[in-house]
Amino acid sequence: MSPNPEIVPFDMNRAEAFADTIGEILNAGAVASMMSLGHRLGLFDVLGNLPPATSDAIAGRAALSERYVREWLAVMVMGGIVTYDPDGQTYALPAEHAACLTREAPLGNLAVYAQAVAMIGQMQDALLERFETGEGLAYGDYPHFHDFMAEDSGQTVTAQLFDTILPLADGIGERLETGIDVLDAGCARGTALLALAQRFPNSRFAGYDLCEDAIAHATDAARAAGLTNLRFETRDLTGYDEKNRFDFITSFDAVHDQKDPQALIESLHGALRPGGLYLMQDIGGSARLENNTDFPMAALLYAISCMHCMPVSLGQGGLGLGTMWGWETAQTMLGKAGFKDVKRHVLPHDPMNVWFVARA
Ligand SMILES: C[S@@+](CC[C@H](N)C(=O)[O-])C[C@H]1O[C@@H](n2cnc3c(N)ncnc32)[C@H](O)[C@@H]1O
Repeated sequence: MSPNPEIVPFDMNRAEAFADTIGEILNAGAVASMMSLGHRLGLFDVLGNLPPATSDAIAGRAALSERYVREWLAVMVMGGIVTYDPDGQTYALPAEHAACLTREAPLGNLAVYAQAVAMIGQMQDALLERFETGEGLAYGDYPHFHDFMAEDSGQTVTAQLFDTILPLADGIGERLETGIDVLDAGCARGTALLALAQRFPNSRFAGYDLCEDAIAHATDAARAAGLTNLRFETRDLTGYDEKNRFDFITSFDAVHDQKDPQALIESLHGALRPGGLYLMQDIGGSARLENNTDFPMAALLYAISCMHCMPVSLGQGGLGLGTMWGWETAQTMLGKAGFKDVKRHVLPHDPMNVWFVARA
């Protein structure tokens, strides 16, 4: 549409600045998508463990094709991620960059989230169709979803479980030592439960999830670890109805993309014994769009919502609340379900999520 000069005078400087911004966005998107590839190929880990090296040496260490690796390195150099010395034709990942891009990254591995950007591209054709029909998608439609999810929760949940997360639930450490029944709802590959079951042998742990492949992975891991106090079950939590069965229930990033989050929260309330605790991690954005402009990685979160969280809920015939359903919505739902003493926390290591602790 051409601008109407009588209403708003066309500002050429503004238009040119905006075109520059779009150029930066295109560059950043390309770098993010290629970062995903580098992460999955282990290239950042190789670079993080090498002094400045030629593309030959890097490809050799990674057991990959030199020509492809050299082209990928060019993207990383243009993106300001890898440095290049033209004299020796060597590439290096500065230690400060490795600190948030490798599997041992002390600041958390942000390359994990680049996989979400790549996934948006992978899902583009399916989404084109869904925009027309309004239909949803199934978890199985997403390649590598559970790999991505396990890496995400591995660093935001499992790695912080004992020092940061469990202390949010008053007295739960002692009760777990003594021996209680615990459920993780929407556990996927169950990395948090595996760690809990190992640490607290007197307690009994259950993990339920819709996805058979994730549960098979979790079951194999429990068997390999020799854990007898942990069971995993493929289970659709829609209409879930077990009464007074657990003392402690957790859900990690597993409520907003359910078919009916309110019904799930109510059923979890019913599954808790009197005085039982619910620990719920979910995305911490606001329900109001205008409140999210400064929320960390808000555009990425809305994109993940549009690409995944909303369609998987719609695909179950659900409400499709989306990733940014809002902490206000979650808090209201907890109250409506009958939870008491609802406390909300935001943890420094995980600014994108909100943590609720509530009593049945
Ligand atoms: C975003 S993932 C989080 C997985 C896991 N808690 C983690 O932190 O890695 C959401 C999980 O909820 C599960 N889920 C979604 N709808 C479900 C349903 N109706 N019944 C059981 N699980 C469901 C999905 O299969 C998926 O594993």
